[in-house]
Amino acid sequence: MKKVRKAVIPAAGLGTRFLPATKAIAKEMLPIVDKPTIQFIVEEAIASGIEDILVITGKGKRPIEDHFDANMELEQNLSSKGKLELLQLVEETTDINLHFVRQKRPLGLGHAVLQAKAFVGNEPFVVMLGDDLMEDEIPLTQQLINNFEKTGSSTLAVMDVPHEETSRYGIINPESEISKGLYNVSDFVEKPNPEEAPSDLAIIGRYLLKPEIFEILENQEPGTGGEIQLTDAINTLNNTQRVFAHQFTGKRYDVGDKLGFVKTNIEFGLKHPEISGELKDYLKDLAKDL
Ligand code: G1P
Repeated sequence: MKKVRKAVIPAAGLGTRFLPATKAIAKEMLPIVDKPTIQFIVEEAIASGIEDILVITGKGKRPIEDHFDANMELEQNLSSKGKLELLQLVEETTDINLHFVRQKRPLGLGHAVLQAKAFVGNEPFVVMLGDDLMEDEIPLTQQLINNFEKTGSSTLAVMDVPHEETSRYGIINPESEISKGLYNVSDFVEKPNPEEAPSDLAIIGRYLLKPEIFEILENQEPGTGGEIQLTDAINTLNNTQRVFAHQFTGKRYDVGDKLGFVKTNIEFGLKHPEISGELKDYLKDLAKDL
């Protein structure tokens, strides 16, 4: 069985949910306390044994490339001032095998992933969406890889969401639970209304896919929202080879949503060695007046 070595991070979206902040800044560069959201995704990939990462970018996404590039001026400045801890933080983002390709037209997530065809070649790979930060003892991407090593099949991560929120996600129709938290799936449906949703199990932005997905994506017609949907292509793939759903039981931070973004900043702030104490006192004080 081929080893899973490559990850694809789609980052071409316009970030309209965060306007005006994202007018000139890529949404993937918005920080959680002091780290851009995309860096958490890259760190999850590396912690899961991924060796090469392709970021699908679009217009205005140069800051992502710069973030993972060396910045000699800044490094020299920090080094000459003896700010070695900061220097280490700046340098640790540059040793990663990152590649970039542009999605020239915003035709949807499926179309973005299709831009990775040449990079991926004939290997299984993972797709990691930047809107979800995951926390668990074993990184979620590693969990998917562990599943793949047992089943040899494509697998994507799902999680229970409130029924009224199904229209924000791809939703699965689980057929049977073949082992704890691993489902056979009969349908994958993109953003169904709650009345039509086959379950409350939502796709949460981590996919392990076999390369046959590309042939399907090449011919995929636009679906929900007039966009070429990855979920639709996965549904087709599931007709010819099994695509499993793995239920994630760790903690998910939805940083693609305004409220989720603010909550994540607070929770990560409470864990941040530099500010946790003062932030806790501040929140306690604030809570008195609520
Ligand atoms: C995308 C997928 C959707 C998935 C979601 C997870 O939607 O199309 O199936 O559930 O990511 O975050 P988006 O949030 O890009 O609209």
